[in-house]
Amino acid sequence: MNKFSRIGFILAAAGSAVGLGNIWRFPYITGEYGGGAFIIVYLLAILFIGLTVFLAEAVIGQNGQSDVSTSFISLSKSKNENWKFAGFMVAAGLIILSFYSVVLGWILDYVITSFSSLPTEASVAGANFEKLISDDIGSLLVYHTLIAGTVIFIVLKGIKEGIEKINLILMPLLGLILFGLLIYALSLDSFSQAVSFMFTPDFSKIDSHALLAALGQAFFTLSLGVGTILTYSASLPKEANFVKSSVMVAIVDTSIALIAGLIIFTFLFTAGAESAAGPGLVFISLPVIFSGWGVLGHVIAISFFVALVFAGITSAVSMIEPALRFFIERFNISRRSATIICGGTFYVLGIVALLSMSKSFGAELTFFGKNAFDIMDFMSSSLMMPIAAIMICIFLGYFVDKKVLEEKFTTHTSQTIFNIWYFLIRYLVPVAIIVLLLNKLGAI
Ligand code: TRP
Repeated sequence: MNKFSRIGFILAAAGSAVGLGNIWRFPYITGEYGGGAFIIVYLLAILFIGLTVFLAEAVIGQNGQSDVSTSFISLSKSKNENWKFAGFMVAAGLIILSFYSVVLGWILDYVITSFSSLPTEASVAGANFEKLISDDIGSLLVYHTLIAGTVIFIVLKGIKEGIEKINLILMPLLGLILFGLLIYALSLDSFSQAVSFMFTPDFSKIDSHALLAALGQAFFTLSLGVGTILTYSASLPKEANFVKSSVMVAIVDTSIALIAGLIIFTFLFTAGAESAAGPGLVFISLPVIFSGWGVLGHVIAISFFVALVFAGITSAVSMIEPALRFFIERFNISRRSATIICGGTFYVLGIVALLSMSKSFGAELTFFGKNAFDIMDFMSSSLMMPIAAIMICIFLGYFVDKKVLEEKFTTHTSQTIFNIWYFLIRYLVPVAIIVLLLNKLGAI
């Protein structure tokens, strides 16, 4: 059978979780919200909300051993076929993948240019970045094609030979690179400054924006709300301990975000740079710092951007898999045909996203004041993912037999843990996500 081994599942789910969200997004939002206090809120969001939804997807998937729709139907009390509509969430994965592949393309460019030259000033770095994303359509198309081709090549081979294998190779390599960078950061004087920035809380910096940013980040980083964890868990052997595996994945994911933060803030403080530079932190601030370190700077730059590519590829394959499984099971088609349909869709959408940021086509691809790239981001991360997460909570909390869930959890963990989880999934988590969704919609 085409199933994960237990360690294969943990590596693949961790590979999905650890991505640009950890190494690019987490440090810059932590910087924007002032460090320590934000991290505490983030950790609480992971523990009480992220992990709860992670376990929810895992239990649905492991029980169903099938695609999102079929797994919902089979776990529901009523076996009502209408639960098939839960399958809408797999589309969010394809949309995210479209622009995620474009961003991975930018990083590929950074790997290549890091061999020859690094910008010595922030203004030059900013201009280079701007030129790449708005002017250099030819290169961007090549990069997007390379990334999309790699993702398609991997998933064509299936769970065991494709996804498990690539994670078995790339995750240890990623760990090794980050470990090397951490050791180097440890040798710098600013390391202690980075530690105190990240771990000394100043709660005056926390407002409702920070809370919602932490919640959104917890969701994105754990790959929730598109059926990724559900679909991966469907390939977890039925007797495997899904509770322990889920906790392991959350620990790995959180540790890597914290380590990436320590590395990046050490580098920034060493150069006396701004910690609140926003999305440009990695693309503009870091290259300038690396350029001051001579040959070593090139080595570090290349290692850092290669690590980002590795982390991103293992996440990218996890975004398409729910849609593939959906097409394979629901329409009874081969993995090959499903890959052609889903791969083709995200590849084309990615081209639209890429062109929408360019000078030449930006105007045609801007609607309601937002370009196509931002629209795809908004539709997936701000709308579809929270809606899917709310649906998952309501489903498990109110439309599934409690006894069935209780038995699944207590086979692997204590009654108390189950009781806490059940309470969270029925009350706290749906309310928190509804607030997040309304906020994204501008309603509150
Ligand atoms: N978790 C990944 C990151 O932090 C991104 C990701 C992978 C993802 N699969 C996903 C996000 C599914 C949402 C849904 O970069």
